[in-house]
Amino acid sequence: MLSAGFNLVAFSWITSPAATELEMIVLDWLANLLKLPNDFLCKGPGGGAIQGTASEALLVVLLAARDRILREIGNDALGNLVVYGSDQTHSSLKKACQIAGIHPKNLRLLRTKSYNEYALSPESLAEAISHDIANGLIPFFLCATVGTTSSTAVDPLLALGKITKRYRIWFHVDAAYAGSACICPEYRHHLNGIEEADSFNMNCHKWFLTNFDCSALWIKASQGRTVIDYKDWEIPLGRRFRSLKLWMVLRLYGVENLQSYIRNHIKLAQQFEDLVAQDTRFEIVATRTFSLVCFRLLPDNKNEEDANKLNRDLLDAVNSSGQIYISHTVLSGKYILRFVVGAPLTEERHIVAAWKLFQEASSSLLENS
Ligand SMILES: *Cc1c(COP(=O)(O)O)cnc(C)c1O
Ligand SMILES: *[C@@H]1O[C@H](CO)[C@@H](O)[C@H](O)[C@H]1NC(C)=O
Repeated sequence: MLSAGFNLVAFSWITSPAATELEMIVLDWLANLLKLPNDFLCKGPGGGAIQGTASEALLVVLLAARDRILREIGNDALGNLVVYGSDQTHSSLKKACQIAGIHPKNLRLLRTKSYNEYALSPESLAEAISHDIANGLIPFFLCATVGTTSSTAVDPLLALGKITKRYRIWFHVDAAYAGSACICPEYRHHLNGIEEADSFNMNCHKWFLTNFDCSALWIKASQGRTVIDYKDWEIPLGRRFRSLKLWMVLRLYGVENLQSYIRNHIKLAQQFEDLVAQDTRFEIVATRTFSLVCFRLLPDNKNEEDANKLNRDLLDAVNSSGQIYISHTVLSGKYILRFVVGAPLTEERHIVAAWKLFQEASSSLLENS
């Protein structure tokens, strides 16, 4: 309410020094919570800027990377620029490439494999880059993900970063959902290798108690400056006083409460996972890393086609009860149910009730099949 009511016009430092400097301060606080290297701090050579969404953040850094390379090698090279991600990368990469004029055939969504838990393999990246260079193309951008949308897979940042460094490729890390968990020391290792990245993004409006929209983007190298004019770090000129929302969250809860908020959700997801694992009719399909559980019901005949239909029916049954709402994904051709804990009011009794709903719906589906 305050952020909307103040109605600031905060596009440059001079139009609102307070909003600009508060944004620098809260993003430095959050960067410190995440233990990002000093290169990402406003106090250092880089800095953070709040974007509307992870999709916008990705577009902004893709355009910056495109600008950097085309300045060096000339605008004629646009058609030869190649972008890399994995088949689990969020669809906003494809959208950003379309807007940035990257040729559709130059977007490489490299295949991940189930035994690799759907993370991007450094070997396949290195192979694709060599192949593209041999064909006269110019690799220039990689988007890695910490916590993919489908199954919260974590790409190996350190190994991928070493490759991007060798070829001077812009390395962006998308941690839209899972970044929040990395404020807890026990989950921070998922960001190991972040020092190799050029830019990093986390959505405070997903799992960090901040109202939509508030997507934190940090970049390593910004140009020498006396003050920050945030209009140069984003697509719009005008901007909201979003940093006030984040300031409020950080001051209201404090580090320890934020950490226990995350830990509690992960604990609840783990409880759900344990319940699923105890029921032999079900299978956990991907390792649970954060607060998302990917699982499915197995038909007696273990037939894959039947399994997909069975789980589609189960989702419909559970969903149409109106008690809980879940979504699905498809991994390696398998239709999979996704159960996530992320709401501030969720308690253990909700988890138990949700599982009961799954069991009852499953029993009646299996009986009637
Ligand atoms: C949710 C999500 C996005 C998209 O977020 P928006 O802020 O809605 O653009 C991108 N990447 C990942 C990994 C996500 O989980
Ligand atoms: C889930 O249920 C809601 C409301 O019952 C419905 O609108 C929605 O389409 C359902 N989604 C799926 C994927 O079944």
